[in-house]
Amino acid sequence: MYKRIIRPLLFLLNPETVHHLVVALIRIFFAIPLVKPLVNSIFSVREKKLNREVFGLTFENPVGLAAGFDKNATFYRQFAAFGFSFIEVGTATPVGQPGNDRPRSFRLPRDGALINRMGFNNHGAERIAKRLSKGRTNMIIGGNIGKNTITPNESAVDDYADAFLTLYDHVDYFVVNVSCPNISDLSHLQDRDQLAGIFLRLSSIRAEMLRKKPILVKISPDLNWEQIDDVLELVDEFNMDGIVATNTTIAREGLSTAPEKIEKIGRGGLSGLPIRERSTEIIRYIASKTDGKLPIIGVGGILSADDALEKLRAGATLVQIYTGFIYEGPGLVKKINKTILRH
Ligand SMILES: Cc1cc2nc3c(=O)[nH]c(=O)nc-3n(C[C@H](O)[C@H](O)[C@H](O)COP(=O)(O)O)c2cc1C
Repeated sequence: MYKRIIRPLLFLLNPETVHHLVVALIRIFFAIPLVKPLVNSIFSVREKKLNREVFGLTFENPVGLAAGFDKNATFYRQFAAFGFSFIEVGTATPVGQPGNDRPRSFRLPRDGALINRMGFNNHGAERIAKRLSKGRTNMIIGGNIGKNTITPNESAVDDYADAFLTLYDHVDYFVVNVSCPNISDLSHLQDRDQLAGIFLRLSSIRAEMLRKKPILVKISPDLNWEQIDDVLELVDEFNMDGIVATNTTIAREGLSTAPEKIEKIGRGGLSGLPIRERSTEIIRYIASKTDGKLPIIGVGGILSADDALEKLRAGATLVQIYTGFIYEGPGLVKKINKTILRH
């Protein structure tokens, strides 16, 4: 029903408008008594065999909603009903910011892909923390943190520390986002010295806390093996808890969409099917380098249950979807969980 009726209608509108429209409709609809439990009973798969113990947390199943979808923690409670076991809110920056000018999100239907240059539009860590504090659910919440656009890389560590502290009591794990291609020079924070500075600060803040919250780092599919090795060494050195692989890419190779259309869209991060293979390759590399001991959240181009299995077989502990949710609808979460059970 989603692909035959709902999607063609939604795809008539600009992607960002659709995003806001759908979220508003879901919130209204879910306010009707019994709707949420009904939706939950349709989409959720509850089986002990799907449970995963990862970095000290128990995930009901291995499928989560990737960062950027619920940037402001405004609808994670409703989205839990679609069968996700975890949702990563953010990217949250210390101060709220509007992001880039619109339009900033584009569909490439021929490629099962999106290009976005949102630019960390979000309400800021404080408002996000307040929202999370009011609406606790039993689902696992990740807090994806970043720096404000105007903050130079030299002081980026202060921004990460700020957002980390503000969200600390309100999320279950953290993701240090140093790989968004839409904030100029952000990806340089994946360089050895810069990343070491961030890890050092966050781990020393964490050492003062009563409860230790897991910290992961989200990497770009555009890193080469040597750069990934550097990240892995630092993860080990600073006792970080895992990797999220991967963010969107700046590459544009192998697309079926007309080159003129791609050129007209301009800069931004490409997600969906075109990054599937590269993300999986990176997951496989990390899993083999770390003997499968480092938790990996596999994300990038999961548009079918088989795509999710591919990531898990490559060594991912958990998976996340974003573009697949837009193209395939909420039924994808159930399909993935059912397929995992069958295998
Ligand atoms: C419109 C859009 C906004 C995104 N915003 C964020 C973000 O704020 N922080 C982040 O870490 N990743 C963000 N991402 C990246 C996704 O979380 C994910 O890593 C990437 O899209 C690859 O997964 P996919 O192929 O399933 O979409 C965004 C992706 C899209 C399409």
